[in-house]
Amino acid sequence: MADEDQPRDRDATRLARASLAADDPTGWFERLYAAAETGDAIVPWDRAGAHPLLLEWIAQRGIDGTGRRAMVVGAGPGHDAELVAGLGFATVAFDISETAIRAARARFPDSAVDYVAADLLDPPAAWQAAFDLVVEVMTVQALPDPPRAAAIAQVSGLVAPGGTLLAVAAVRADGDPPADGPPWPLTRREIDAFATGGLEPVTIEISRHDQSPVDWWRAELHRPR
Ligand SMILES: C[S@@+](CC[C@H](N)C(=O)[O-])C[C@H]1O[C@@H](n2cnc3c(N)ncnc32)[C@H](O)[C@@H]1O
Repeated sequence: MADEDQPRDRDATRLARASLAADDPTGWFERLYAAAETGDAIVPWDRAGAHPLLLEWIAQRGIDGTGRRAMVVGAGPGHDAELVAGLGFATVAFDISETAIRAARARFPDSAVDYVAADLLDPPAAWQAAFDLVVEVMTVQALPDPPRAAAIAQVSGLVAPGGTLLAVAAVRADGDPPADGPPWPLTRREIDAFATGGLEPVTIEISRHDQSPVDWWRAELHRPR
């Protein structure tokens, strides 16, 4: 059984370290979700709802997704995808962990979201430049580099002409030493790197929310038509 008295990220850290030692930077996600399914691990990012900075951004923008398509990257528990689908977007949400996808479908049995198991590093060709809104919350920060730079470029590649990318990640400030992750917070240069393949920054801001003591990037980017 997972020990609730231990730090919430203990199991993720242990499994990630073993995975990285085997030169497999993404294998630990499935192992973590599978262990959590049997009560043998805690998924530290499994919140009760959508990410506060995504919620705030949506409230500020007053977004209506009717008739438009959205993609949620590394969707994990599914709360962000459910929020986005609730705005009217035809929403696809993917994760590399098949167990996470199965759990999200079971958690939201009446969901309008199309939950799909897929790898951000090798996404289906049909997803290229296909989504009016792309939401990436804490996926890239869960990957070391490599393959981080490739993952950033793949996220940006999902945005359709006229579309928007919203990326949320912890901040690694100038002068901070590299993190002994996961997670590996993003530098300014790394958050700026989402502006690739024609994407243009709209706002890149540092934010705080009441569920975390650290600074967060919230980056909104746009692909011109
Ligand atoms: C830190 S969690 C964040 C989950 C979710 N976005 C949230 O905020 O609750 C990172 C997620 O990205 C997924 N992930 C990691 N690498 C991935 C990849 N290459 N392709 C798809 N999903 C990936 C993991 O399985 C995990 O669910």
